Amino acid sequence: MTVVVPTYNEGPNVAELVRRLAAALDDDVVPGGAEVLFVDDSTDDTPAVIAGVAAQAPLPVRTIHRERPTGGLSGAVVAGLEAAAGARVVVMDGDLQHPPEMVPVLLTTAHETGADVVVASRYTGRGDAGGLDGWWRRLVSKASGLLARSMFPVKLRDVSDPMTGFFLLRPGAVDVAALHPRGFKILLEILARQRLRVVEVPFVFGERFAGRSKATVANGMRYVQQLTSLRFGRMSPFAVIGALGAVLNLAILAGLQGLGAHYLPAVITANAVTIVLNFLLQERFVFADLRDGAYSVAGRFARSFAFNGTEAAVRTLLLWWIVERAVPHPELVQAVLILVAFVVRFVFQSQVVYRP
Ligand code: GDD
Ligand code: MN
Repeated sequence: MTVVVPTYNEGPNVAELVRRLAAALDDDVVPGGAEVLFVDDSTDDTPAVIAGVAAQAPLPVRTIHRERPTGGLSGAVVAGLEAAAGARVVVMDGDLQHPPEMVPVLLTTAHETGADVVVASRYTGRGDAGGLDGWWRRLVSKASGLLARSMFPVKLRDVSDPMTGFFLLRPGAVDVAALHPRGFKILLEILARQRLRVVEVPFVFGERFAGRSKATVANGMRYVQQLTSLRFGRMSPFAVIGALGAVLNLAILAGLQGLGAHYLPAVITANAVTIVLNFLLQERFVFADLRDGAYSVAGRFARSFAFNGTEAAVRTLLLWWIVERAVPHPELVQAVLILVAFVVRFVFQSQVVYRP
């Protein structure tokens, strides 16, 4: 078994990590023995520190030092997966936010369930994201996880924490060569590309042992890029249908007014027609495979209609309020609100109406 640990300037954490891993992974737990494989992109003395620790460690410690790192953290993990070829692999951070004592739990779970991937999750059971510093990062982590799950509702059905960096892979389950690593979220990349059997175990995300997080705003941007490159899952057809609906909405509005109708009943009619049509097209083209989920077609329609109707009403009020109070540019405010509403509606449809 190989424990792959990506490191970027983590010198002060190495000895403690290896000590706790060695204590957790004795021969009873891992019959074939375990090795630690650091994939290091450090610019400081971390490689020397690792070499020093390796010389005295009670278990084998290997290092890949990448002189020209590509793909960031994800690239490092993929390099580790390639080098560990053939073995069961656990991927974990080098700063002890992922408790080494959890590794045997991942192994046992893999053994008992035969799953392709065992995910250590902060968001299931007794899991906890405590060590994620600040409510802002916690919110972003939650929201981006929800978005990813909405895009890939089938592949991520059993995954409450697709953003975690702590997981186990069954040998041969993942087509490593097909991955295009970038940014921080390698697990999402792995799960979105292939249909895999996933089992989760809860864990408590701890405090960093030493040093500071290497996550940056640029990493956040790369996450958005990554979702794009994974082709937005079913968000693309959803967007096309939404755009068609918007054009139709305006056409109806203009047409009814041309026939002499007052603009208010015209707007309401246009909204109602587009909401119904959107629903029918989504049933057929976006969520066809999820129709035997939680609700009957009537139940789905009722929820969809109620939510989108409410959303349209709330958005109109919000528009009025923001334009009067803060930003006197109706077109700009409307554009932003439509974008936000698009994402919110998409998440609602995926998570509620077509709940798998
Ligand atoms: N080799 C390599 N190259 N390692 C890296 C790089 C890189 O470019 N960037 C970060 N790392 C290593 C760090 O040294 C650490 O061991 C691990 O990746 C995680 O980095 P942190 O800086 O500790 O990230 P974090 O704690 O903010 O984020 C963690 O939690 C996120 C979920 O909230 C990571 O596990 C993320 O993968 C996870 O999504
Ligand atoms: Mn960390």
